[in-house]
Amino acid sequence: MMSEEASSAPTFDAVFRAKFLELLAWRRDVREFRTDPIPVGMFERLVEVACLAPSVGLSQPWRFVLVNDVGRREAVRRSFEICNQEALECQRGERAMLYARLKLAGLNQAPVQFAVYADQETEQGHLLGRKTMPETLMYSAVAAVQTMWLAAQIEGLGLGWVSIISPDAVNAALQVPESWRFVGYFCLGYPQHPDDVPALQRAGWEHRHNSSEFITRR
Ligand SMILES: Cc1cc2nc3c(=O)[nH]c(=O)nc-3n(C[C@H](O)[C@H](O)[C@H](O)COP(=O)(O)O)c2cc1C
Repeated sequence: MMSEEASSAPTFDAVFRAKFLELLAWRRDVREFRTDPIPVGMFERLVEVACLAPSVGLSQPWRFVLVNDVGRREAVRRSFEICNQEALECQRGERAMLYARLKLAGLNQAPVQFAVYADQETEQGHLLGRKTMPETLMYSAVAAVQTMWLAAQIEGLGLGWVSIISPDAVNAALQVPESWRFVGYFCLGYPQHPDDVPALQRAGWEHRHNSSEFITRR
């Protein structure tokens, strides 16, 4: 196969680098949405950007399921309510009181909702890189989510990841192929309150630790 000719690489100047850091600092997991719709074609454009993410063997295993149907959305919301109640029951004392006050999903307001899956049987990529680590398909789908998260932020949109949910319940509601493994359910829309501090940090649940804590040297 002929290789595609490379176009000349752009340079990223100091202004861009500063803006990029701002983008990372202001990207939030959003749970409080405005209910107004997002522009027509925006979701598709965000998926297009997400498809630039790295993937094992260039397999692009991500699958986006846009959920517009009211009944299916309701089934997902019910699963969240049940799982969130169970999660609350695992907390004790003051933590339980704090947990009960947290808003952990924007399922009632978010104008756009979608699920992301990773196709475990895709032939794209011809199995490269995933023989010893099949979980790399999931990692690839998460890379696409992160790319979309940043692309949404640039558009002034917020994305919220909902994992307090039963994958089986979502799969049943969305009737996806058996070979698709659930990655997460997402809310998308304009945030009510743009913020450069994570909501869980504002709520006193957890705080960001210093990056030096995450480096091990051998
Ligand atoms: C894999 C994953 C699952 C998550 N699930 C939830 C969730 O179910 N509910 C929620 O409110 N936030 C969820 N979050 C968002 C995190 O709480 C959030 O990323 C973290 O508190 C840091 O905040 P930030 O994303 O605004 O920087 C999830 C994030 C990730 C990466």
